[in-house]
Amino acid sequence: MAEKTLVGIVMGSTSDWDVMKEAAQVCKDFGISYEARALSAHRTPTELEQWIEDMEARGCQAFIAGAGAAAHLAGVVAAKTILPTFGVPIPSKYLKGLDSLLAMVQMPKGIPVPTLAIGEAGAGNAGLSVVAMLALNDPALKAKLVAFRAQQAEKVRNAKLPELN
Ligand code: RP5
Repeated sequence: MAEKTLVGIVMGSTSDWDVMKEAAQVCKDFGISYEARALSAHRTPTELEQWIEDMEARGCQAFIAGAGAAAHLAGVVAAKTILPTFGVPIPSKYLKGLDSLLAMVQMPKGIPVPTLAIGEAGAGNAGLSVVAMLALNDPALKAKLVAFRAQQAEKVRNAKLPELN
């Protein structure tokens, strides 16, 4: 049987990759299979729908969708699948991502889009949210997540503030 692709990462434009690569990096670091695509809810709606169906057939367990401005991509993905879909607001040129955040987070009741912070932190945390979700049924992945948290805490404990002159 073919290998499953567990996470679908989609963004509205190739210009979103600089931010969305943080989500892909987390998947890679934790050894989770993913596919990342630039597909737009308004420019390529047919291809988007086909890709979601294809990902479901390949064993996908969650989607991460990043978009900027009138950011309806995550809502459209969430509407097309019952798999959890996490939203990442991309910083936009004029409103710096506040538009993306509000468009994504203000989903009417019924089709949820758990929405992360604007930008790289949000993309990375979307990846970590998916890791936490998959770790519920994967003890090895859970151990990696626990180790990651411990390492992160250790870095903070060991951090030195600069001396005053
Ligand atoms: C959105 O419009 C994309 O998600 C992107 O953040 C923004 C700008 O897209 P480009 O004009 O750079 O393709 O749909």
